Amino acid sequence: MAKVFICRNWFPEELRRVAQFHDTKIWMEESNPPRRVLLEEVREIDGLICLGSDDIDAEVIRAARRLKIISSFSTGVNNIDVGAATARKIPVVHPPHVLTETTADLAFALILAAARRIVEGEAFVRQGRWKNSSHLDLPGVDVNHARLGIIGLGRIGAQVAKRGKAFNMQVSYYSRSRKFDLEKLLGLEYIPDLHSFLGQADFIVICASLDEKNRHLIGRAEFAVMKPTAILVNASRGALIDSRAFYEALKGRKILRAAIDVTEIEPIPPDDPLLTLANLIIMPHIGSAVPETRRKMMAMAVDHLLMALEGKRVPLCLNPEVYE
Ligand code: DGY
Repeated sequence: MAKVFICRNWFPEELRRVAQFHDTKIWMEESNPPRRVLLEEVREIDGLICLGSDDIDAEVIRAARRLKIISSFSTGVNNIDVGAATARKIPVVHPPHVLTETTADLAFALILAAARRIVEGEAFVRQGRWKNSSHLDLPGVDVNHARLGIIGLGRIGAQVAKRGKAFNMQVSYYSRSRKFDLEKLLGLEYIPDLHSFLGQADFIVICASLDEKNRHLIGRAEFAVMKPTAILVNASRGALIDSRAFYEALKGRKILRAAIDVTEIEPIPPDDPLLTLANLIIMPHIGSAVPETRRKMMAMAVDHLLMALEGKRVPLCLNPEVYE
């Protein structure tokens, strides 16, 4: 019987599958286990299930002397020091497919909400400001036939591209690696230069996963080349945008509007200047927040953990070199 720590009591029916076989401790609060608790809990465990908001850095991995598997509930693993895990031959696994379309739907919802001022319109009505019908009320911009630029043509980026095509958008993408097949299949334009790519787009949607190379990919210089009418959407990770430059760009109307599901610090601190901006929609990282999608994510995290604890090779492992 192995020892397991699970960082959240989500979908207990799935977690029972772990407790059935292993000595399992579940963090029962609706917040991340504090660092002190995490460092203590990992000392004797063989398996860990964590969320994207749990910081599984080199210190935690060092403290977990017996650890044999890090199974992430989240697809993004920028919170895990995969290098440190690899050095200890610990496989790191995540659920790669199950949230793709759910998250792409949210990204597209953010495009539509920012373009057509859905959040402002709702507040306008509830605040009793809808007195008569004026063509000056909340003018929006067209999504249909506009130019959509996608940063990161992975699984989610490709699904956003499909949705853009259904809205008759001209879709281009920027990515570290060119995706010839997808480009052909979906009819996309590849623009290898970031600034040229940003300068032509009406809507820019960030779908790239975060790593050390692309932190603050969008900063002051990048906002400077965007159209003043551009709308920026971030459905990936907050740190892909430099928050200070983001605030200045929105405040100074260098771009028209933005809608984000993610922030550099989550939850966003209540005194963050971004919260003062009327041309920004902020959502509380709900890209995958459809219960059935999240249940599938937890089911995969459990499957991966159980497989590894049985000594089996876990498919879709992010550091397959640990098996060599
Ligand atoms: C993910 O799985 O990476 C989503 O952003 C939820 O954390």
